[in-house]
Amino acid sequence: MIAHLRHLTRLAGRGHSRLASSASTSYLIDQPEYGFLKELGLEINNPGVYSGQWQGRGPTITSYDPGTGQAIATVRQGTVQELQQAIGLGVEAYKQWRQVPAPVRGEIVRQIGDELRKYKEPLGKLVSLEVGKIYSEGQGEVQEFIDICDYAVGLSRIYSGQLINSERADHTILEAWRPLGLVGVISAYNFPNAVFGWNAAIALTTGNSVLWKGAPSTPLVSVATTKIVAEVLRRNNLPPVVTLCQGGTDVGQSLVSDKRVNLVSFTGSCKTGQDVGVEVQRRFGKVILELGGNNALIIDSSANLKMALDAALFGCIGTSGQRCTTTRRIIVHEQLHDQFVTSLVAKYKQLIPKIGHQLDGQTLVGPVHTQQNVDSYKTAIEEAKALGGTVAFGGKVLERSGYYVEPTVITGLPHDASVVHRETFAPIVYVLKAKSVDEAISWNNEVEQGLSSAIFTENISQAFKWIGARGSDCGIVNINTTTNGAEIGGAFGGEKATGGGRESGSDAWKQYCKRATITVNHSGELACAQGVVFNVE
Ligand code: UN1
Repeated sequence: MIAHLRHLTRLAGRGHSRLASSASTSYLIDQPEYGFLKELGLEINNPGVYSGQWQGRGPTITSYDPGTGQAIATVRQGTVQELQQAIGLGVEAYKQWRQVPAPVRGEIVRQIGDELRKYKEPLGKLVSLEVGKIYSEGQGEVQEFIDICDYAVGLSRIYSGQLINSERADHTILEAWRPLGLVGVISAYNFPNAVFGWNAAIALTTGNSVLWKGAPSTPLVSVATTKIVAEVLRRNNLPPVVTLCQGGTDVGQSLVSDKRVNLVSFTGSCKTGQDVGVEVQRRFGKVILELGGNNALIIDSSANLKMALDAALFGCIGTSGQRCTTTRRIIVHEQLHDQFVTSLVAKYKQLIPKIGHQLDGQTLVGPVHTQQNVDSYKTAIEEAKALGGTVAFGGKVLERSGYYVEPTVITGLPHDASVVHRETFAPIVYVLKAKSVDEAISWNNEVEQGLSSAIFTENISQAFKWIGARGSDCGIVNINTTTNGAEIGGAFGGEKATGGGRESGSDAWKQYCKRATITVNHSGELACAQGVVFNVE
């Protein structure tokens, strides 16, 4: 299998054209090595809308393997009309679903997790194939969905409100959490499975229905994942509490502006997320925004350098630099800076033979997702050089089919250079030299985004400063571990231009609920709070 894929990588692109008509295009799904796609129920042409049944009357799009440029299969997207129909059905399904006891809803989510376990191997491979992430990361992404299902099953039995002391005699104040209604999930290409998963598992458990629009360039993951969920709904005679509408900007805009979508959970760029936030607020809807990051790894003079280097490697290069949590800046204490750069470059060198097709077992660095990523990689490197930066390693696009770039280390830039403050979705890291942890913290915090951050230190005072009020202003504030690869148990998300939303674990479930404050008078007499007297005899 792996050997086959290596062969394919070499042959890739010969005679292939994105403009090829469907009659002359050969699709990977037809080749025996890609049998796993058929195991997932995929075909050459797949309907991209599910609302109890499969359809898709919008434009057909082709999904490509970023590792070869070859077409995988096609998806018929939805129209705005189909989206609106899905919204209507989702709202109706919600009315039934909210009546189901939470632990019984949890049981359905448990079944979704079990079904995902059955398909983890082929689904993870599809995630790899369609995004470009390596095999273990594709498997890891599906694992993240499975983990959040397990979490949600437990949550279904324990999420609860509270009982609050009333100032009035024989009064009791209760707080209860109720579902919102229909939750719209708009996910990005880099986590086409897990982001839907951690939204859907929690939203369903708390009694909402879910409408999903996946990224246009990863439609096969959306379809395959929804098939798995739909099978569980079918088996349990449930209405479409999960619906899917793949589509373009028109479909996305319609979803965002529709009053029937009570919460929009959006993952994507800061710019689009800001527009989504404003649009949803305009209609007093709720929003969860998971937007860009510009995540720094700080290396204090006391750091365990070996560990910090390993963290930098996965942080900067994992998923070919296309996680919102990817390490984009390394801020190193001046005493360690030169030594650190030399060691980092030595590590990067070892990765060059490990650049390859994402499904090749030897690969650690897969392709970036599209030509757009390659273009922004080139632009960032040119800008960095023009601003006086030095390319300490990498900097080149590889001459082969697919979208391969060298992981890149850039040194010598000012901490506030425009390119350093911009998030480029590619494996480029800027190494900055700082005089102290205080200076490093101020640089960590000076960017617009506030998603993830990490410090490597063995100094307890610095560590506690970092996690305190004077420390990192990000949503994720790590010590001696990577900026990326968060577990599902904590709340995931960030501050400032990252959008402020939280998903996944901790009490992020509350965002999928409305809160009811309930005052119960069991005194037999009416009494006003604050000692107000208001009556006549
Ligand atoms: C994303 O890049 O949109 O912490 C999400 C991480 C993953 C999630 C990344 N668990 O890197």
